Amino acid sequence: EIEKESLNYSARISDTLFVNERKCASQEILEIELKENPDLALKIEEIEEFTKSAINLDIKDITKFKIRIPIIVNVLYRTPAENISLAQIYSQINVLNQDYNGTNPEFNQVPGIFSGVKASVDIVFYVEKVIRRQTTRTSWAFRNEEMKKPEFGGIAPTSPENRLNLWVCTLEGGILGYAKAPGTALELDGVVLDSKYIGTNGRATAPFNKGRTATHEIGHWLNIRHIWGDRTCGNDFVSDTPSHNAPNYGSPIFPHYSTCPGTPIEMTMNFMDYTDDASMYMFTYGQRDRMRAQFLPGGYRNAFL
Ligand code: ARG
Ligand code: ZN
Ligand code: CA
Repeated sequence: EIEKESLNYSARISDTLFVNERKCASQEILEIELKENPDLALKIEEIEEFTKSAINLDIKDITKFKIRIPIIVNVLYRTPAENISLAQIYSQINVLNQDYNGTNPEFNQVPGIFSGVKASVDIVFYVEKVIRRQTTRTSWAFRNEEMKKPEFGGIAPTSPENRLNLWVCTLEGGILGYAKAPGTALELDGVVLDSKYIGTNGRATAPFNKGRTATHEIGHWLNIRHIWGDRTCGNDFVSDTPSHNAPNYGSPIFPHYSTCPGTPIEMTMNFMDYTDDASMYMFTYGQRDRMRAQFLPGGYRNAFL
């Protein structure tokens, strides 16, 4: 049985196609796939139902188990600089392990009004394998996802059912990175990052050189949404994040007030906003619960345990 709220969800994602000019490619590719594949909307609604009821029923169990995520890094390069160093890759893993465990240096700078909801997601990431492939291509488009297709010079994912595949390449269109949400095709599952926006050293380029693109995209990969809900004062399905008018960019000055109902102070430092890397540094308990729900029995990422 599907409730009204989640039924509206697919309509809502199609709506946003025409509303915002600049959007996260993760959202855009989901919309493209929803048009091509009528079954996907239903699948996503099922995942949404599961997530909602898991959070309502299993709230105590959700925090109990250990999650360790093996990562396969797929590097596609033409120039030597695009063939990023192991040091750059490991600097990214280090950021993920901080950001997902409340040990990032800015965690204790979260403003007082949000200190009661800031959360450790309690997930550990490690590199299992780095695969490198040289290509003649200068850049890759997210729309056709050829970086994941060997016949186009890409690299197919390794065991996507229980490995997180990252692709590192030069992306077209100024996109920092994008993720596939739970429910989409497994053979294209994972996160793509431009080699200029991964990690904190080597080729990493300011103001996106603190590894937060991967933190943000892995959030999508674990079923959390943009904090503004991809529409004006939209819904991110998380109750402890305030409503935001729209994405925030750059380095917002605190407090930034929303004009949404209740005029809350916006949580611009949340990883699921669009600010510069240095200005995003927290998840909430509600976001944690949505992410961890994917690993419960029956959850989309349960095979990782
Ligand atoms: N998919 C988004 C983009 O390409 C990622 C934004 C991540 N934000 C960040 N500060 N790293 O724009
Ligand atoms: Zn995004
Ligand atoms: Ca919210």
